[in-house]
Amino acid sequence: MSVKTERRYLWKTLLLGLMVWVGGMMAPQPAQAEYADVVINNYSDAAGMRPAVFPHWFHRIRFRCKVCHADLGFQFKAGGNKITMAKIIDGQFCGACHNGEVAWSVENCAMCHSGVPGTPTHFHGSTVQRLIAPVYQPLNDNKKVQ
Ligand code: HEC
Ligand code: HEC
Ligand code: HEC
Repeated sequence: MSVKTERRYLWKTLLLGLMVWVGGMMAPQPAQAEYADVVINNYSDAAGMRPAVFPHWFHRIRFRCKVCHADLGFQFKAGGNKITMAKIIDGQFCGACHNGEVAWSVENCAMCHSGVPGTPTHFHGSTVQRLIAPVYQPLNDNKKVQ
């Protein structure tokens, strides 16, 4: 190989490697809630409350994943935690922070219960994710994503 073709070969290899790498990063991953909001409606509708909306990105830029998904025990699944107001007031789940100390307290019902009535539990992807991920997948066994 001449120096020139050798270089070209090197570039091609590098480019291919880069494409595979970028492709891998862009492939749909199971965990895509990073930028999204989560509508939580296991009990709200039935209780005559608007569904709770959890702005995931808003929180995620303030706290590490570990704070919620390890320390506070939030399952990585929209609707996968049986969150009730009793638990929240007891300091679990949202209540670990929405206690008037770390964040505003539980009296602000409408701040959390801001969803459109009847919206099923699901994770709502961002525009960016819609460009990357081809389809929504059912996230909840008993409730289909719209
Ligand atoms: C920090 C967020 C937050 C605030 C503030 C909040 N809630 Fe909730 N609430 C939730 C979440 C999350 C759920 C679980 C939603 C679901 O699965 O339907 C829930 C569930 C409920 C439920 C159904 C389950 C149960 O415990 O009976 C009722 C009723 C309810 N909330 C009423 C209220 C009222 C009334 C207020 C204000 C006094 C309030 N909530 C304030 C987050 C909040
Ligand atoms: C402030 C708390 C908090 C932080 C920080 C946080 N999450 Fe979450 N996450 C939640 C809550 C709440 C849900 C919804 C759980 C529910 O509906 O019961 C959720 C849901 C998820 C889901 C499931 C979405 C689905 O498709 O069902 C994934 C995946 C996830 N989070 C990943 C992450 C990653 C990765 C990070 C860090 C980059 C992170 N979370 C940081 C609270 C948090
Ligand atoms: C690890 C701490 C933490 C947990 C857990 C947490 N929050 Fe928050 N949340 C915050 C902080 C801090 C703010 C910002 C408060 C402020 O701006 O004064 C906030 C703000 C919010 C806001 C307002 C967002 C905005 O645009 O202003 C909503 C809605 C909210 N939380 C809902 C929830 C719900 C629902 C849950 C449970 C599913 C939850 N949060 C769990 C810390 C937490």
